[in-house]
Amino acid sequence: MNDPVIFGATTGAASAPEMPPLVQTAPTRETARVSEPLPFRHEEPVLGPTGRPMPDLPEPEPLTTHGHARVIAMCNQKGGVGKTTSTINLGAALAEYGRKVLLVDFDPQGSLSVGLGLNPHEMDLSIYNLLLEPGVRIEDVVVPTGVEGMDLLPSNIDLSAAEVQLVHEVAREQTLQRVLAPAVDDYDFVIIDCQPSLGLLTINALTASDGVIVPLECEYFALRGVALLKTTIDKVQQRLNPKLKIDGVLGTMYDGRTLHGREVMERLVQAWGDTVFHTVIRRTVKFSDSTVAGEPITSYAGSSAGAEAYRQLAREVIARCLDE
Ligand SMILES: Nc1ncnc2c1ncn2[C@@H]1O[C@H](COP(=O)(O)OP(=O)(O)O)[C@@H](O)[C@H]1O
Ligand SMILES: [Mg+2]
Repeated sequence: MNDPVIFGATTGAASAPEMPPLVQTAPTRETARVSEPLPFRHEEPVLGPTGRPMPDLPEPEPLTTHGHARVIAMCNQKGGVGKTTSTINLGAALAEYGRKVLLVDFDPQGSLSVGLGLNPHEMDLSIYNLLLEPGVRIEDVVVPTGVEGMDLLPSNIDLSAAEVQLVHEVAREQTLQRVLAPAVDDYDFVIIDCQPSLGLLTINALTASDGVIVPLECEYFALRGVALLKTTIDKVQQRLNPKLKIDGVLGTMYDGRTLHGREVMERLVQAWGDTVFHTVIRRTVKFSDSTVAGEPITSYAGSSAGAEAYRQLAREVIARCLDE
């Protein structure tokens, strides 16, 4: 006959001769109420969409003071991977958690500005003026957005000329860092929406940043070009900005119903390990709809899965910043 398994018994105690026989008594109301917790839990950890156990991402503590912003470049030289969508919606979700946020439109296409309801032809001043005209101050260019606690440095096609003109500037790679410096004390997060290239504007964004978030579309060719991006980040880190690090790789436009989607996610985690955010942004038309409406998904469709995903990303970004 097998020995009974007694939870909590020390090794060998069950077979010790002085051990009294185990008397099974029916639980009375009194003993049944005080049930001992089992010393071993055999629950399987809940796996997230990246195939790793999902960590607890608690509601962030409210802030009593603001400043010392973490500057984040949203960067991938590939277009259409969700940089602008992630900038708007991560920004709006951070603002919902009481963080003061400045979004920087650093793409001459001005999609971030348009996505927040601005008309590119009706801007008095844009980031172009701030970069190249010495008399212009950051507070002259910053505009509020429809989201409380979130401001924007807008841009339009003028910025494409800046790339050419900056070439002749002294310390041309540090221009954005220099003009953003006064704002760092006023905000908790500054998020720079980069253009889809690794040219001088993107180098400026990386030089001005503490961290980089790399959005990657969960498609077969997503990892193509990422090695070049990594080399560029490493070079900027070595030569211009020693504090620069990759804050995270964000899987976007994920479709977990297809084998293909899950395979790409698996490869992403194989290649980047824990740098990959646990949060994954699924594919949904709500994002294009909210862009047309000129507002973030967190207000356009506040209870949608997309809005919830960016809130979770905001909690993950805040948690990663606290871990530093
Ligand atoms: N998770 C998503 N699901 C579906 N469509 C998306 C998603 N994220 C972004 N999009 C759409 O894809 C297009 C490209 O996204 P965008 O954020 O502008 O990319 P990027 O700034 O990298 O060029 C936009 O039309 C946007 O609305
Ligand atoms: Mg964009």
